[in-house]
Amino acid sequence: MSATPSSDSSIPRHVAIVMDGNGRWASKRFMPRGVGHKAGVDSLVNVVRACVDRGIPYLTVFAFSSENWKRPEEEVSGLMNLLIVALSKHLIKLKSDGVRIRVVGDSAQVSDKVRQALDDAERATEHNSKLVLTVAFNYGGRWDIVQACRKAMEAGLEPADLSEAALSKYMAMAYAPDPDLFIRTGGEVRLSNFLLWQSAYAELVFTECLWPDFDAAELDRALAEYARRERRFGGVTADQSNTREEA
Ligand code: IPE
Ligand code: IPE
Ligand code: MG
Repeated sequence: MSATPSSDSSIPRHVAIVMDGNGRWASKRFMPRGVGHKAGVDSLVNVVRACVDRGIPYLTVFAFSSENWKRPEEEVSGLMNLLIVALSKHLIKLKSDGVRIRVVGDSAQVSDKVRQALDDAERATEHNSKLVLTVAFNYGGRWDIVQACRKAMEAGLEPADLSEAALSKYMAMAYAPDPDLFIRTGGEVRLSNFLLWQSAYAELVFTECLWPDFDAAELDRALAEYARRERRFGGVTADQSNTREEA
């Protein structure tokens, strides 16, 4: 299946999401946090579908951060199990929808079982290209920069040859364009160590909506906000540059 991304520049090519608020969603219902994580998987499946429908070719989601090991053992093992269960439940449908799954993060620290499930999902979908769904698992933006530097050094890159473009090639998501739109649900206004290098010029959208409540309508609200933004990348707008020429 070949990618048919929208050529409309008001639609982001790459959306990155910090899927936050699962625990609070469950607590509000007097349920254990794990129930919120499970509801969060359903939300993700819906959002993937919505991104496919809207012609967004890259979606990257923060599923487990380098810092989430600080959570109680029970929650961490629940999240690991949920990943395995979710992949076995949804993989066939994702595959038939043309979704390619890719994983970024420090896989050395995760159990063999989890690594196997992630590897299998990547392999099973490697020929798909309608939407690349990157699952950031045991990922941290600082880890990514360090691992890229390490790889560059291992490849024998000389200090004088180190540049932004050269280092970019070693970043975990070198296969994707930088995120255009960075969404964080759950009301917190911070990056929490997600895609630090890659989001240098992403448009940031923060919403109070808790991740299990995030749906296609919420995605459309974020996309509408994105479409209203004027991206300048450090330059000036077309209007401003006209004014300057006229002056
Ligand atoms: C995000 O939801 C999911 C993960 C970090 C795995 P949280 O679990 O952080 O939910 P809140 O922020 O405590 O509500
Ligand atoms: C960020 O959420 C990580 C994921 C969504 C996987 P956190 O809930 O871990 O972030 P903080 O602790 O509020 O910064
Ligand atoms: Mg949280």
